[in-house]
Amino acid sequence: MNKTLRKAIVAGNWKMNNDRNAAKKLITELNPLVKDAACEVVLCVPYTNLETALSLCEGTNMHVGAENCHWAKSGAFTGEISAEMLAEMGVEYVIIGHSERRQYFGETDQTVQARVRAALDAGLKVILCVGEVLEQREQGITEEVVALQTKVALGGVSEEELSRIVIAYEPVWAIGTGKTATADQAEEVCAFIRSVVAKLYSKAAADALTIQYGGSMKPGNAKELLSKEDVDGGLIGGAALVASDFAAIIEAAR
Ligand code: 13P
Repeated sequence: MNKTLRKAIVAGNWKMNNDRNAAKKLITELNPLVKDAACEVVLCVPYTNLETALSLCEGTNMHVGAENCHWAKSGAFTGEISAEMLAEMGVEYVIIGHSERRQYFGETDQTVQARVRAALDAGLKVILCVGEVLEQREQGITEEVVALQTKVALGGVSEEELSRIVIAYEPVWAIGTGKTATADQAEEVCAFIRSVVAKLYSKAAADALTIQYGGSMKPGNAKELLSKEDVDGGLIGGAALVASDFAAIIEAAR
């Protein structure tokens, strides 16, 4: 089965949640619950929690990521954080192109591409988010939208570098709405993304690519979603803020 060719990764995206005490409490609670996880566990946390997460995750099977990075190495970009700064701290992953950044902060496919380039150059692993909004799904252009987002973001990324990229398919209409894509809808688009990557690179590269589903994934629906052939993990928002829920999703990836 092709699923065995790739690494299952369940990542939490904390978004703009958790002060330092809450971060400490959550990671401390999670540690014993996920220590025997069968998948890779990643915590993507706000910049202000990176130091805390890095120190508490040291020596555990939990990996640490940021939620965004800038495309320049340094310079006059007030309020921004570069990929190099993250790498220097010991951060391993970075989420790029999340729909909330596209929706609220003017992120475009071109700026996503620039951030992906910077993250790879800094040695980071990327969780690249793609996904359609409700109107696009209703117009029947989900595949066009997701193909364009994927192709532009991966522009200039070599096949060797692709091994440091995870794609997260997050239908925007399913994020934080409690409205999960059905397992079949998730599978359909994840399989489509894999076919796009196969055409851009090779079948071997596409087979090895981890593709996550994200959008209202919870303990109750995780098993069905994760059992699908092309769904290799999850990018979890709300449920990643509750240790027992996040741990249950990780267990469902077994
Ligand atoms: P929810 O799990 O809260 O729907 O968020 C998904 C998400 O945006 C993860 O990046």
